[in-house]
Amino acid sequence: MKGLILSGGKGTRLRPITHTAAKQLVPVANKPILFYAIEAMRDAGIREIGIIIGDTGPEVRAAVGDGSAWGVAITYLPQEAPLGLAHAVKISEEFMAGEPFVMYLGDNLIRGGITSFVDEFEASKPDSLILLAKVPNPNQFGVAVLNAEGRVVTLEEKPKEPKSDLALVGVYLFTETIFKAVNAIKPSPRGELEITDAIQWLITEGYRVNPHLVTGWWKDTGKLSDMLEANRIMLDDIKDSVIEGELIGDCEIQGRVVIAKGARLSNCIVRGPAIIGENCKLTNTYVGPYTAINRDVTIANAEIEHSIILEGSSILNINGRITDSLLGKNVEVTRGEIKPKAYRLMLGDNSQFSIV
Ligand code: DAU
Repeated sequence: MKGLILSGGKGTRLRPITHTAAKQLVPVANKPILFYAIEAMRDAGIREIGIIIGDTGPEVRAAVGDGSAWGVAITYLPQEAPLGLAHAVKISEEFMAGEPFVMYLGDNLIRGGITSFVDEFEASKPDSLILLAKVPNPNQFGVAVLNAEGRVVTLEEKPKEPKSDLALVGVYLFTETIFKAVNAIKPSPRGELEITDAIQWLITEGYRVNPHLVTGWWKDTGKLSDMLEANRIMLDDIKDSVIEGELIGDCEIQGRVVIAKGARLSNCIVRGPAIIGENCKLTNTYVGPYTAINRDVTIANAEIEHSIILEGSSILNINGRITDSLLGKNVEVTRGEIKPKAYRLMLGDNSQFSIV
């Protein structure tokens, strides 16, 4: 069994963060989303993984390397443009070399991994196993209709009028028959080779496509609110506090908190679940629940909770609390001393800034 992780495409809904970075590398609980996919595959016994890359390929390569950090072998599969999920499958044919494989969308997060799905696929040997989950907004997903016997009858990509509330989750298991399908279908009206059309082709041609209803938590992390939710879920998985950094003066650590080595906190209150990355410097600061602060961040005289702060940023001397926020790399949020008293901003395209 091999693996295919899709890490190309464009992250339009997470702009401006994704103007400059791959959306699959945005960290959740201080770990890039993509790493959760690699770990899930490794835990399922998969050792050879192909990663589809696009414009952000160099960044993905730099973060993941050859896979030895996870004990897996990574092969990069450049995709000339985001021409669709089925197109990504198409260009992986040579790499798969006839083996069955798991395809995992690099912006999806599934709590509890994929081992049980791989086991089910290997035991029941269908041509494809698809994962489905009930969602309140099926028009934003691929949607499956099952018949009375629970067999998949139709699949539609983001239908205006969904015929069910069963969304396709971004993990699919295939045998090599999927290559017949992706080579047979034509691009959809939006110009992409759709994986839903390829799986529909398998069904129409009489191949066996088994559905599996996912009851655990999963997320397609497209938007800010999804990222914050994913961050909450993954921070909740912190079992015990690990304090490797230094606590100076009057510090109070409440609940489950991870403070990485090289971090220095002086006169701070941290209320978990929260994680503070390597070499952070925090002074007179309150860090509230569900906050992930990445490495090399400086915070002084500020309060922050339910937020994700990327590496190298600084937050200094802020009245009031920062909450529900995502700050990119090397962002500076400070109280200015120069007159006239005013907000001075430099925000990237598609930024959001809300003032009390
Ligand atoms: O998250 C589940 C949904 O994922 C399914 O319900 C849909 O049926 C499926 O089409 C997909 O929809 P999205 O609109 O969320 O797909 P997106 O364009 O965001 O692409 C998913 C991942 O695949 C993302 O990490 C980018 C990558 N990608 C995407 C395309 C179109 C590629 O690597 N190459 C591509 O050509």
